[in-house]
Amino acid sequence: MRSLNVSPTRWVGLFALLCALLALITPAVSVKKENFKTCDQSGFCKRNRAYADTASTTSNFQSPYKLDSTSVKLEKGVLTATVLKSLSPSENVRLPLTVSFLESGVARVTMDEEKRQKGEIELRHGSKARKERYNEAEKWAIVGGTKVSTGAAVHEADDSATRVAYGPESKFEAVVTHSPFGLEFKRDGETQIKFNDRGFLNMEHWRPKVDKPKPAEGEENKEPAGEDESTWWEESFGGNTDSKPRGPESVALDISFPGYSHVFGAAEHTGPLSLKETRGGDGKYDDPYRLHNSDVFEYEMDSPMTLYGSIPFMQAQKKDSTVGVFWLSAAETWIDITKSSSSANPLSLGVGSQTTTTSHWISESGLLDVFVFLGPKPQDVIGAYGELTGYSQLPQQFAIAYHQCRWNYVTDEDVKDVDRKFDKHNIPYDVIWLDIEYTDEKKYFTWDPLTFPNPLDMQKQLDDHERKLVYIIDPHIKNTGNYPIIDEMKSKDLAVHNKDDSIYEGWCWPGSSHWVDAFNPKAKEWWKTLFKYASFKGTAKNSWLWNDMNEPSVFNGPETTMPKDNLHYGGWEHRDIHNVNGLTFVNATYDALLARDKEEERHNVRPFILTRSFYSGSQRMGAMWTGDNQAVWSHLEASIPMVLSMNIAGFPFAGADVGGFFGNPSSELLTRWYQVGTFYPFFRGHAHIDTRRREPYLLDDPYKKIITQALRLRYSLLPAWYTAFHEASTTGAPILRPNYYVHPGDEKGFAIDDQFYLGSTGLLAKPVTAEGATSTEVYFADDEKYYDYFDFWTYQGPGKHAVSAPLDTIPLFMQGGNIIPRRDRPRRSSGLMRYDPFTLVVAVGKDGDAQGTLYLDDGESFDFQQGAFIHRRFSFDGRAGSLASVDLADAGAASSKAAKEYLKSMENVRVERVVVVGAPASWEGKTEVDVSEEVGGKAKSEGVRKAALEWHAAEGGKAAWAVVRNPAVRIGAGWKLQF
Ligand code: NOJ
Repeated sequence: MRSLNVSPTRWVGLFALLCALLALITPAVSVKKENFKTCDQSGFCKRNRAYADTASTTSNFQSPYKLDSTSVKLEKGVLTATVLKSLSPSENVRLPLTVSFLESGVARVTMDEEKRQKGEIELRHGSKARKERYNEAEKWAIVGGTKVSTGAAVHEADDSATRVAYGPESKFEAVVTHSPFGLEFKRDGETQIKFNDRGFLNMEHWRPKVDKPKPAEGEENKEPAGEDESTWWEESFGGNTDSKPRGPESVALDISFPGYSHVFGAAEHTGPLSLKETRGGDGKYDDPYRLHNSDVFEYEMDSPMTLYGSIPFMQAQKKDSTVGVFWLSAAETWIDITKSSSSANPLSLGVGSQTTTTSHWISESGLLDVFVFLGPKPQDVIGAYGELTGYSQLPQQFAIAYHQCRWNYVTDEDVKDVDRKFDKHNIPYDVIWLDIEYTDEKKYFTWDPLTFPNPLDMQKQLDDHERKLVYIIDPHIKNTGNYPIIDEMKSKDLAVHNKDDSIYEGWCWPGSSHWVDAFNPKAKEWWKTLFKYASFKGTAKNSWLWNDMNEPSVFNGPETTMPKDNLHYGGWEHRDIHNVNGLTFVNATYDALLARDKEEERHNVRPFILTRSFYSGSQRMGAMWTGDNQAVWSHLEASIPMVLSMNIAGFPFAGADVGGFFGNPSSELLTRWYQVGTFYPFFRGHAHIDTRRREPYLLDDPYKKIITQALRLRYSLLPAWYTAFHEASTTGAPILRPNYYVHPGDEKGFAIDDQFYLGSTGLLAKPVTAEGATSTEVYFADDEKYYDYFDFWTYQGPGKHAVSAPLDTIPLFMQGGNIIPRRDRPRRSSGLMRYDPFTLVVAVGKDGDAQGTLYLDDGESFDFQQGAFIHRRFSFDGRAGSLASVDLADAGAASSKAAKEYLKSMENVRVERVVVVGAPASWEGKTEVDVSEEVGGKAKSEGVRKAALEWHAAEGGKAAWAVVRNPAVRIGAGWKLQF
């Protein structure tokens, strides 16, 4: 055999080269799973799974929970009773139950523990923690919708069950079964949701620790077999021991959805939108979905592992029916999902079969507190959830445009240079971001004096083009000398405490740190003082906020967070409040920004904050993103179901780091990522400190050109986006809408999570997420025409269609029947588009008609609450051959000073073009349309004028289309075009 004569040093060189090449092709990153618990390593999760297994496999299993029939009362819309947990024939634990029937048609079930309510328990280790079960999650999560309905009435009761009719026209019914205790929720006589049907209800009651005598030396431990007590009193993981002063206190319940084959929700995870089963087997997960907000470094795809935020809200979907539950617990929670099928027809392949999905919810502590939604439409469920937890904030206009971030822009000159380069290359952007390196040695509320000597100059340059700065402030405060902020936080006792009730110290970016306790009202007041322009000198009015690491991330803490036995304001253990911790921090920042601008008489400017950690309700304060993803194709693909999942969870202002945080994307990947990002409600490019620079202007053509086109598409559709954000902020409706939401009767589309609709615009996008792809397949669920957005090629639904999608193409379609508002003039930033004219695109539906809406305001202030907005409906009537604009604003809304001023400022903003796609063939030869305008709701005295019409015949598969040139009608007024 001929051997290659290679010297040893050359071998070393070749080996190094090979390693370097391998590092290029294999992502060098993957999560350190051993840092995070599996269910088996989490005492309460393991115990409850074991409990469920016993309940499922023991013949004649009897749930020990019974309702004391003599205790049942229904007064003013609230049913109260006592559930008895039987410990022995003579010993019961008393668990007070309430079922509240709310005016919205939602039912709320709570269960507490009497002994703990009364404080009749003892804490171990001399703990100063509270004795009650945590009952303040609602204080942070719930803002409305809790008014009880006095219409709810018991319509049947005996010793075995109590039946209550409630909801709209009393169409809903709650059946409380007494022995064993369970609940059934019916709509129109049909059972939709069942509690404790499988017998998994388990409220671990308080008990004193009984020290058992240690076995004598040489003697075997002869403990009788029974419950696994090994994790009741202490639990260790990764070198940390949790002291558990209250012992075991978990709360768990099975919630079944009979006849429902799909469940969605329980964000945030990386798997598909339609949740998978979790008890093992082919294609299923082995572990439950976990909700325990964590800084999961290098998270993995298709996994039930926890991520940065938690929304314990779940929807179940079957043909033409959506129902849901919201499990209000701020403690660590695991959710098992199982499905059982009873198909009458074995060939039905799941469609039409009778599948029951069961969810098993397991929380470490706190009350049992569950809201039940009976639909029947997706929006009924999502809207009612939004009424409880608040609709998403209506952001400032700049916040929904493009954001440019990286860790880090290193000097103020660097920021100015990036800003200039965007302009030089004619690429629009609105916001540039500063990551942690702008600070003086990671001391928040300071600037590095060497690298950021002139922050105000920098912000002035940005402001010249109506651009903004976002800077980062994290909740860990550096524990160091010569830093007044830490001195003040310590002297005023505003930080989180450890289990011994002294200040807690841990490690994060600055090294040794303390954490501001945003549960403490005094800490919130203090936080307000820090953001004032006079306190944090160098910040200007165009600066906004990024709150990161607020799970909280603690580098040396258990599972990279705080010990569970740490203490917060009010004596609550960290265990009780962990998942709501991030929300409280953003809440404090939001109030601080309002206070900052109030002092400057800008009190009506809407704050912008990006948060990494979140809980139900965080949507009221700003945007979220999916944290530290990777520059690989699988992360691009997963970002779509992840963002969709946030959209159906009442928190639509969501996005992923465009380009991937870790690693260097290829030009193709980066280009495709911008095409996807164009459809993230929160659209930001971001990159890790070790990556190469990748601002869009750094790429060569065609990539640069294609990315610029994607950005321009976003800017041109900003009116449609803003309208969708407005709808979300008033109804809770998703901004990106999965197929099931838009077509709840289309079972075949329930699991689709790689395409979506944008608001109510009828725009359907199916961005490409596969390397090298030049085509894709899109699914149209309804019997409607879909026009290619760019060339008007026409597809007929329902069904799947293969579409060409080379690198320069985003598959984007207009569903017939919709009218889409745009602004087509390219500008540097969205602020510069304020007075630009509009284009309306009419996509004619199969019935010849189309509808659309536009919402518009100053994009900045709260003046819209005083009626300072424009809200129009556009209607195209094919038979009458007309397009009209009518007012959707409430009569009288425009009477305030702010409203009048706003409408005046918009008086000259016009429609410069109307494009009718799918224009009737009868228009051939027409060259004009009649334009009539209204003033103050009345036809204008000058009467009718003409505008030019161009008609283009259908060609090949492309629809006929027509353009009205410069109809010059006012965007804020009534008008009609007669074709
Ligand atoms: C973690 C965040 O997820 C990331 O986006 C940020 O760049 C780093 N923290 C540094 O602040």
